[in-house]
Amino acid sequence: MKLIQDLKGKTAVVTGGAGFVPSHLVDRLLADGLRVVALDNFVTGHARNIEHLGDNPAFDFIEHDVSEPFDVKGPVDFVFHMASPASPIDYVQIPVETLKAGSYASHNALDLALKKKATYLVASTSEVYGDPEIHPQREEYWGNVNSIGVRSCYDEAKRYAEAATMAYHRAHGLDTKIVRIFNTYGPRMRLDDGRVVPAFIGQALRGEPMTIFGDGSQTRSFCYVSDLVDGIWRLARSNYNLPVNCGNPNEMSMRQFAEAIAKFFGTELRIDPKPLPPDDPKVRKPDISRAKEILGWEPVVSFDTGIRETIEYFRDFVPVA
Ligand SMILES: NC(=O)c1ccc[n+]([C@@H]2O[C@H](COP(=O)([O-])OP(=O)(O)OC[C@H]3O[C@@H](n4cnc5c(N)ncnc54)[C@H](O)[C@@H]3O)[C@@H](O)[C@H]2O)c1
Repeated sequence: MKLIQDLKGKTAVVTGGAGFVPSHLVDRLLADGLRVVALDNFVTGHARNIEHLGDNPAFDFIEHDVSEPFDVKGPVDFVFHMASPASPIDYVQIPVETLKAGSYASHNALDLALKKKATYLVASTSEVYGDPEIHPQREEYWGNVNSIGVRSCYDEAKRYAEAATMAYHRAHGLDTKIVRIFNTYGPRMRLDDGRVVPAFIGQALRGEPMTIFGDGSQTRSFCYVSDLVDGIWRLARSNYNLPVNCGNPNEMSMRQFAEAIAKFFGTELRIDPKPLPPDDPKVRKPDISRAKEILGWEPVVSFDTGIRETIEYFRDFVPVA
């Protein structure tokens, strides 16, 4: 598929722009010559993720809760709705804000895209598949989600966000994209966000045993952030409107992942076992055939390279013992 190449003078709005993935997207858009307006209320993101952009005349920041209506001056060509608490410990603590980020904020971002005749892209998630009964997960799979479980505030918010996106596409002809993001890691994650990559690296840096839930046989597949951002940006410039999985199909069990981190640090694996949290998916691996076929996209950053970059980033946040 041919992607839009003429980006001169284009403007993108990125909700959640001070977050982990969105701030990397902002960097990529600026590097490709766009003007970028980012909005964030810092509920889970941090100003340090965008402070390097302070003097960039092509970058504007608006501190705002995007679950409340908002407007952006001037023409807008792309609206990326990325704002949402994204890690289980975040969204379980603020379930109502999470539901609003998928619902109210989706409508606000969709309405902006409609008003500006912009292309709209929403950051959805592999969590829309819930605890999947098919493996790996293809976009055609409708999912297995517990609508009243502790994770439902996130899973159902994202399912709603997808439904709203398709409704604006069908009812108003809005050019919309849905990216279903699988576990992504890299610099600018928070050490304390509860996700397994910063959790294990933080524990390894502090010389602590690694917390493994259950027997550690549950699997995840980890995508490096620059690969994900490339997939998102390709999707935004395509003419494809149905959901696309973006993630790395390189699947590993939690135990294998802990062993790999211990190996990086040249230490013996020590484990702190904890009970499996409710509704924790047992397997997670994207089928990325659609992204390969439509976007010509697949991850290119090796696990070793990605983890090394991430460990280097986190070293600054852990005091040397
Ligand atoms: N990182 C992953 O592995 C992953 C996986 C699946 C989906 N996603 C999606 O990608 C997006 C970014 O995730 P992330 O991992 O970078 O998380 P993050 O928490 O680092 O980034 C989200 C950003 O959104 C902001 N935000 C949240 N609610 C807001 C609101 N109401 N108004 C304004 N700003 C708000 C936060 O402050 C934060 O800066 C999210 O939509 C998430 O659901 C991420």
